[in-house]
Amino acid sequence: MKLIVAGSTGFVGTEIVRQALSHPAITSVVGLARRPTPTPHNADPGMDTTKLKSVVCEDFMNYTDDVKQELAGADACIWLVSVTITRARSVTQEKAREICLEYTMTGLDTISELSTSKQFRFIYTSGAKSERDPTRAPWLMRDYLLLRGEVETRVLNYAKDSGSDVEACVVKPGLVDGETGRIVRGLQTVGCYMINMPRVEVSDLAAALLQQVVEGFDSDTLLYEDLVRIGQKALAD
Ligand SMILES: NC(=O)c1ccc[n+]([C@@H]2O[C@H](COP(=O)([O-])OP(=O)(O)OC[C@H]3O[C@@H](n4cnc5c(N)ncnc54)[C@H](OP(=O)(O)O)[C@@H]3O)[C@@H](O)[C@H]2O)c1
Repeated sequence: MKLIVAGSTGFVGTEIVRQALSHPAITSVVGLARRPTPTPHNADPGMDTTKLKSVVCEDFMNYTDDVKQELAGADACIWLVSVTITRARSVTQEKAREICLEYTMTGLDTISELSTSKQFRFIYTSGAKSERDPTRAPWLMRDYLLLRGEVETRVLNYAKDSGSDVEACVVKPGLVDGETGRIVRGLQTVGCYMINMPRVEVSDLAAALLQQVVEGFDSDTLLYEDLVRIGQKALAD
């Protein structure tokens, strides 16, 4: 399988690339980002770093022929490029819309068109609180959460309209935990409790996403509890 990890320089992307390089069913990993994707340092004995190709894309609205050539023939893509909720207030609503929605739809269209797979698989990584229904939108971060919900709907509709050419899955993790100090973890625990935000370990999330692109999607939307269950089972196996 040739897998594209879009947003491979980020927190979640780094762990997905690390695990993908050890996954026997994944023969090629394209790390797509606006800057080079580093080769993981903490290499497992079974990791094959030669499978990684770092591809720098300077404009996610216009892919150059050189970039397209590297993306051609992919079987699946995990999309992680976005303005995260913690950075949402640092960009205008227009810019957030361009990065979260336009980049995603342009990427999905471009990469799926270049795929030669019978059924191209696309995972869109959203958030637990993103909302597709404007009547149910929370008051806190309302515009941002509705924007992310709109992207979810657009991705799933794109796949529906493609017939069986594209299969899409939206994943909705809560807070993604990595290695942090005890104080940060304690503060996160309190914050998550106060806003009823579930949590998932980054290693479980990465394992779940890789299991799903390789084996096929359990459902078109996976919630945090699905991701924890699938990820922990995949890591144990
Ligand atoms: N982390 C969490 O707790 C959490 C929880 C729930 C959902 N999620 C979702 O999971 C996905 C990945 O999250 P993450 O924590 O890995 O985020 P992250 O560390 O901020 O990484 C985001 C990726 O998007 C790229 N990116 C951001 N703005 C860009 C722009 N203007 N042009 C091109 N590339 C851009 C970043 O590139 P650079 O590295 O160059 O900045 C990076 O590769 C997001 O959709 C996020 O909403 C995350």
